[in-house]
Amino acid sequence: MSRIVVVSNRVPVPAGNAGQAGGLAVALLGLMQQRGGLWFGWSGAVTEQAGGPDVVQRGAIGYATIDLTEAEHGGYYTGYSNGVLWPMLHGLPHLMAFRRQDLDTYRRVNRRFAESLVPLLRQDDRIWVHDYHLLSLPAALRARGMRGPTGFYLHVPFPAPDAAATAPGIRGLVEDVLKADLIGFQTTTDRDNFAAAAQGFAGAAQVADQMLELGGRPIRLGVFPAEIAAQEFARTAAVQVQAEPARLLARSLGDQALVLGVDRLDPTKGLPERLEAFRRTIARRPARSLAMLQIAAPSREDVLAYRRLRQEIDLAAGAINSDFGEPDWLPLRLLARSQTRDTVAGFMRMARVGMVTPLRDGMNLVAKEYIAAQDPRDPGVLVLSRFAGAAAQLSSALLVNPHDAEGMAEAIQRALDMPLAERRERWEAAWAAIAGTSPEAWGEAFLEALVPGELAALPAAGH
Ligand code: G6P
Repeated sequence: MSRIVVVSNRVPVPAGNAGQAGGLAVALLGLMQQRGGLWFGWSGAVTEQAGGPDVVQRGAIGYATIDLTEAEHGGYYTGYSNGVLWPMLHGLPHLMAFRRQDLDTYRRVNRRFAESLVPLLRQDDRIWVHDYHLLSLPAALRARGMRGPTGFYLHVPFPAPDAAATAPGIRGLVEDVLKADLIGFQTTTDRDNFAAAAQGFAGAAQVADQMLELGGRPIRLGVFPAEIAAQEFARTAAVQVQAEPARLLARSLGDQALVLGVDRLDPTKGLPERLEAFRRTIARRPARSLAMLQIAAPSREDVLAYRRLRQEIDLAAGAINSDFGEPDWLPLRLLARSQTRDTVAGFMRMARVGMVTPLRDGMNLVAKEYIAAQDPRDPGVLVLSRFAGAAAQLSSALLVNPHDAEGMAEAIQRALDMPLAERRERWEAAWAAIAGTSPEAWGEAFLEALVPGELAALPAAGH
């Protein structure tokens, strides 16, 4: 069997608990632990000299990491990846802050990834590149002679071409990523949007739903929704609800119903909109009948939009508590720090209402975790944004438009008042959608489509 080489910007070299790790790391770790292979990417360190690669073996996984210089980190990670691509891909172009030199640095760092990786490669490796930080990497690897099967997976959404075109530089990056053999997406919408952009920006021809052709070469497209280890998460939640953090939270709540949100502190997550919905809810319910806990793990604090968001939600949360609080009671607890996944699992099991209301999200694994964490005999209700990829699978949740504060407030109330029979019915449908899947199965499905035989067997649709 050929070796798998995963390349991602962030590499979760094991060192304690990952806290609110992003969806990518959560999805990939199980697969890599099971399969073994090489995982290449940024060490997370910013150093004076460009360093690496440093290689360490941990169990079945070899981790090879490079350090970034301050200029690389500022241009590639903070500037272009998170200041331009991230907001554009999530349909928030007004948050883009473009500087030409950041795009140059992005491309240069993608080339550096290729230069450092190529000497570590073996003849029959299969390469799997992840996410929007590395759109240029397939082209950079090909330019250095790498001919083996190369897959690319986009963990985040891809918008319609006219929205994608708002990010300066995106046309060239779409050309670069088309040097991969297989490109995977979370949803059919993302796949179809990308296919349209590949035609419009790069002159690719669409020869089938799942197939493009460019310069005589087939490029396969696929939809692979990211999954969680649902059974394992369910067991963790059942144990953790008895652990100290959950017991302390339960004691502080008494018989108040818990409304819970767990997110990275990110402009795509719809946090101000969610707080506004909670504000409207609390105004209509008796004091001390419910409380909201919002965990908002600080993220990408070098990006201005993230720092502004922190201020905005601090203000909104303060206003909710000062308007509706009582001398002996506050309705909202906002924590701008990460909690361990175990602790979060226990909290999720206690929560009557799980709020996952991003403005746009590739998948959102928190939504799946909330479902997995519930007690099947007495499950809570998921209030889920229609604009999260997870909504395609979890359609039995209360689906909301995060831009409609009133609609969200109604959904929270409906969730709080929902009879047990309906809660069970909705939960069972959601559980059925995730119970049989796993991150390993997700990864295997992608990798199966990336075997050379499979790729060669593709008939290039009649050509
Ligand atoms: C999302 C992205 C990942 C990213 C994660 C955490 O899940 O798809 O690529 O790693 O967020 O963000 P960070 O910037 O801390 O890596």
